[in-house]
Amino acid sequence: MKASPLAAAGVALASTAQAQVVQFDIQKRDGPNLRDLGRRAATINGVLSNQQIQGGYFLNVEVGTPPQNITLQLDTGSSDVWVPSSSADICTQVSQRNPGCTFGSFDSDKSTSLRTVGKDEFDITYVDNSFSKGDYIQDDFHIGGVTVSNLTMGLGLDSSIANGLIGVGYINDEASLSTIRSTYPNLPVVLQQEKLINTVAYSLWLNDLDASAGSILFGGIDTEKYQGDLTKINIQRADNSNVFTEFAVELFEVQATSPSGTDTLSTSVDSLVAVLDSGTTLTYLPQDMAEQAWKEVGASFNEEFGLAVVPCSIRNVNGHFSFTFAGADGPKINVTMAELALDLFSGGPQPKFSSGPNQGQSVCEFGIQNTTGSPFLLGDTFLRSAFVVYDLVNNEIAIAPTNFNSTKTNVVAFASSGAPIPSATSAPNQSKSGPSSGTGGMSAASGFQDSDNAAPYTSAFSGPGAIIVGMTIGYTLLGGAIFGAGWL
Ligand SMILES: *[C@@H]1O[C@H](CO)[C@@H](O)[C@H](O)[C@H]1NC(C)=O
Ligand SMILES: *[C@@H]1O[C@H](CO)[C@@H](O)[C@H](O)[C@H]1NC(C)=O
Ligand SMILES: *[C@@H]1O[C@H](CO)[C@@H](O)[C@H](O)[C@H]1NC(C)=O
Ligand SMILES: *[C@@H]1O[C@H](CO)[C@@H](O)[C@H](O)[C@H]1NC(C)=O
Ligand SMILES: *[C@@H]1O[C@H](CO)[C@@H](O)[C@H](O)[C@H]1NC(C)=O
Ligand SMILES: *[C@@H]1O[C@H](CO)[C@@H](O)[C@H](O)[C@H]1NC(C)=O
Repeated sequence: MKASPLAAAGVALASTAQAQVVQFDIQKRDGPNLRDLGRRAATINGVLSNQQIQGGYFLNVEVGTPPQNITLQLDTGSSDVWVPSSSADICTQVSQRNPGCTFGSFDSDKSTSLRTVGKDEFDITYVDNSFSKGDYIQDDFHIGGVTVSNLTMGLGLDSSIANGLIGVGYINDEASLSTIRSTYPNLPVVLQQEKLINTVAYSLWLNDLDASAGSILFGGIDTEKYQGDLTKINIQRADNSNVFTEFAVELFEVQATSPSGTDTLSTSVDSLVAVLDSGTTLTYLPQDMAEQAWKEVGASFNEEFGLAVVPCSIRNVNGHFSFTFAGADGPKINVTMAELALDLFSGGPQPKFSSGPNQGQSVCEFGIQNTTGSPFLLGDTFLRSAFVVYDLVNNEIAIAPTNFNSTKTNVVAFASSGAPIPSATSAPNQSKSGPSSGTGGMSAASGFQDSDNAAPYTSAFSGPGAIIVGMTIGYTLLGGAIFGAGWL
């Protein structure tokens, strides 16, 4: 996600009413899939390819005239689309350490439709300090069968990241606010302005950790991609601000459930607000909660990696973490252990525990990590287990447990600009006063409090223990999943 968003003065989203409706489908591997063309729904469906090791979900797009193919990472935690320039050092200085811009780059000299609209005005820094700088340009943007003419994008002339992004967040989080103090209509807004969708909203279905693709559906929901009820919760404004900048929601409670019982993780943090961020690989909770989650599963913090790690075999353990939002009666998403152990390296042998109770077992990074202070982030390890609708006009999220590997589809478009999320009901008892209310808070359960005596959690899953990671073979750290891009 983008670093330190400016508390910009009240810039509102454009939300003109639109009438015309058209639907397009986008498939990554099979080209445009026209199956649903002509249906009533005004939605655009993009297939997201799951790059597990790079840590992200990517979309194929084409930019400029003639169109240049580029694969971009989808990010709900930032708001600019940007492409790496073919002339950027990160693309040209290819070496053993730098594989170059393998997801594609943009040669701006070759596009006849390009206009530079903000020389040196594009400058974005993400939470992990990775950055991209250059110009704001306008050019044609083809996303599957749809062409958005004149989309404003960043052109990364100087970048520490080799792939571009599609930031689909609020305009009040655009990088242009820090350089020229103004916003522009970004992709979700332009899709609506160009009448390709009815309202500024989309749904995200990331699917299983092992599945190769998920999808983003602009302008609608797919009722086949979730189970149970789709429940609406309020997006929280940033502190002391009357504008919405990120998909921050009130996390009411996190529980760990295993065959031995259920524990509620406690925290000293007054008000637990977490950001739904598809550009972040892992989930980051307050230190005290993360440490309890680690105890539950026998994870340990490894200084070498700077990460909490678990034996990969924990994937087979019968247990889950439940995340409850917006009050005790709000929606609950269960994340099973199968979704919470990620390989550390792409292919080849994985490092193994060289001592301790897990000696000889492969080491995986754990899906729940710690962070000091906000933002607390619900990244892909959480998001895969949920179907999430982002409504940027009504400032609401709708969420439901995902329907993994669903092959059916039943798309329902938003009826009009500002229409409510289809099929969704509001969570009861939502705190009305936003992040400072503190009433939602976490409550400690007896299982945890009595841990010194009964220690129910120590045996909950695999059991903890002192461990040392054997790093005798020279592994190449693929930063994305671990440090760098994980924080986008
Ligand atoms: C990239 O563009 C070429 C034509 O320029 C096209 O044949 C090819 O299918 C495109 N590839 C992808 C992955 O879109
Ligand atoms: C692109 O948008 C700008 C304003 O953002 C406008 O001045 C210009 O005419 C547009 N160009 C095209 C080709 O639509
Ligand atoms: C979904 O499909 C993938 C790939 O075929 C498979 O590995 C995974 O186990 C499936 N997940 C579920 C929950 O069925
Ligand atoms: C989630 O887990 C809780 C127990 O922690 C259980 O009561 C609930 O039915 C589960 N929900 C789903 C959708 O599986
Ligand atoms: C996470 O926890 C570990 C172990 O307590 C600590 O060493 C590390 O500094 C923490 N990381 C952050 C970002 O707070
Ligand atoms: C939430 O609201 C429902 C119905 O309005 C009520 O029955 C329930 O007791 C409330 N729960 C809390 C925790 O306030």
